[in-house]
Amino acid sequence: MGLLVEGQGGLKTGFYSSSCPKAEAIVRSTVEAHFNKDPTIAAGLLRLHFHDCFVQGCDGSVLIAGTSAERNALPNLGLRGFEVIDDSKTQLEAECPGVVSCADIVALAARDSVDLSNGPSWGVPTGRRDGRVSSSSETSNLPSPLDSVAAQRQKFSAKGLDDHDLVTLVGAHTIGQTDCQFFSYRLFNFTTTGSADPTINQAFIAQLQALCPKNGDGTKRVALDKDSQLKFDVNFFKNVRDGNGILESDQRLWGDAATRTIVQNYAGSIRGLLGIRFDFEFPKAMIKMSSIDVKTGTQGEIRKICSKFN
Ligand code: HEM
Repeated sequence: MGLLVEGQGGLKTGFYSSSCPKAEAIVRSTVEAHFNKDPTIAAGLLRLHFHDCFVQGCDGSVLIAGTSAERNALPNLGLRGFEVIDDSKTQLEAECPGVVSCADIVALAARDSVDLSNGPSWGVPTGRRDGRVSSSSETSNLPSPLDSVAAQRQKFSAKGLDDHDLVTLVGAHTIGQTDCQFFSYRLFNFTTTGSADPTINQAFIAQLQALCPKNGDGTKRVALDKDSQLKFDVNFFKNVRDGNGILESDQRLWGDAATRTIVQNYAGSIRGLLGIRFDFEFPKAMIKMSSIDVKTGTQGEIRKICSKFN
């Protein structure tokens, strides 16, 4: 904070250092207060930023309420953490009305969530403006858990993100959970073979079947990172390497030569000692993702309430 550093897409770290010096501290303390009550909220906030950025750019479009808004599209129904953004906004409007965008609050909250989960921290370039469009029909850019690597690659490259960014960013699945319904098809009669997806580690299948029984409750939650769901670490990559990936899209990253090399590198690295460092690469990839199609200057608006256009 304090120092202005040019970010990507016209953003700068410390954008609010004179217009609202407490902005980042207010977001941080709000995220922290919610995190202390429910540490799983960190994962919700990180995913919220990703889903914001992939549709209409990182412009808070995902926050708009309304039946035809992005938030109500199928891939967004499980999003969580809106109350943390609203809570931050209320405090920011009291401190410096009309200054801090909802899009920036989402970006800052994602960073703070990773930091609070024992992950890396970084300076977030800010200065995003809030968008004036949010449409549920525009969410087809979002990747699906059934996507092949080719499909994932295509969706990320359409946003200027390469294989390295893709694998690094999907490493966000080191925290958080998924509904059984997004992967239980892998457990029983996968592609009508009569048995489970052969890429799942044999020793893990029975455990997963017990967590998500056939015809069971599809909304039951399962950790995306076996044995380490609250810690932002490289365990997720070890799980993918070992056939313990939960989502089909995650496990497929081991089946493609290019993405496999990257997973292998992260899986083999003990923080800071070997290989490419996940905790160093993740912030760089996040800064790239969080500058997708941003609105700056006089574009868009600064919303007064994050769930409503002004
Ligand atoms: C190919 C790309 C991706 C696919 C197919 C994908 C898919 C999914 C799915 C299906 C879930 C479970 C949702 C639920 O049941 O509520 C999920 C959760 C999550 N995703 Fe992704 N994701 C991808 C990339 C990313 C990226 C790039 C990030 C962030 C940088 C991210 C962050 C998260 C987090 C933190 C969760 C846990 C959310 C929670 O616990 O509420 N994902 N993802």
